[in-house]
Amino acid sequence: MREPGLGAWLVGGGGSPLLQWTLSSAAANMRLNQNTLLLGKKVVLVPYTSEHVPRYHEWMKSEELQHLTASEPLSLEQEYAMQRSWREDADKCTFIVLDAEKWQAQPGATEESCMVGDVNLFLTDLEDPTLGEIEVMIAEPSCRGKGLGTEAVLMMLSYGVTRLDLTKFEAKIGQGNEPSIRMFQKLHFEQVAVSSVFQEVTLRLTMSESEHHWLLEQTSHVEEKPYRDGSAEPC
Ligand SMILES: CC(C)(COP(=O)(O)OP(=O)(O)OC[C@H]1O[C@@H](n2cnc3c(N)ncnc32)[C@H](O)[C@@H]1OP(=O)(O)O)[C@@H](O)C(=O)NCCC(=O)NCCS
Repeated sequence: MREPGLGAWLVGGGGSPLLQWTLSSAAANMRLNQNTLLLGKKVVLVPYTSEHVPRYHEWMKSEELQHLTASEPLSLEQEYAMQRSWREDADKCTFIVLDAEKWQAQPGATEESCMVGDVNLFLTDLEDPTLGEIEVMIAEPSCRGKGLGTEAVLMMLSYGVTRLDLTKFEAKIGQGNEPSIRMFQKLHFEQVAVSSVFQEVTLRLTMSESEHHWLLEQTSHVEEKPYRDGSAEPC
């Protein structure tokens, strides 16, 4: 779902000075991932850079993906502008999902050739900077159903909790998108709302102590490394 950022509103919007400060400081965290690589078992998460745009643009020509992710088709120039805005927007945290097996097995391969999808977190509630909306897309059909979406979401949730101070997550999913609804339900999200207007359901996960413990257990294998310092790149 490629929405324009709320960043300008965060800086210029109403509310008390304290609320503004709280939101700005929470939002500033969202850009923390610019130099972060997260290494999992099945996927590697890297920041979205201009190098990834051509393949991303190819994916988003698919009407199925546009429908499933509620996205509008963009020109290549617009896609580059969107990538820059995502990188700079303070209210959004984006990682590109790479196939870890391919990334590790093919030294010298470009990241573009290892790309399988993306995963995002947005701050959507100006009054609650601890709530993040999560989205995921495994764009390559041959890579679906192998646990990559699950691991990408778990890694993003863990990053959201430990690095962005988020305590609640929501996923808004088209009513007919059974694979996505089931995946989020397996990840302990519960349905909290249905919109017949938008034909979507909202699923929510609140980080109680036991959910927090479960999440850290599920992601204990994940390594966080600096992106592109030369030590983290087999490609
Ligand atoms: C939804 C999506 C992210 C799932 O990622 P994935 O890597 O294919 O899913 P996983 O292999 O991790 O599967 C996790 C669970 O999701 C459910 N699931 C996945 N694919 C499914 C399918 N085709 N039918 C029914 N359930 C499915 C299952 O419960 C599965 O658990 P199981 O394998 O133990 O049965 C991926 O299919 C996708 O990106 N689709 C297109 C874009 C999209 O819909 N994005 C979500 C927008 S909100």
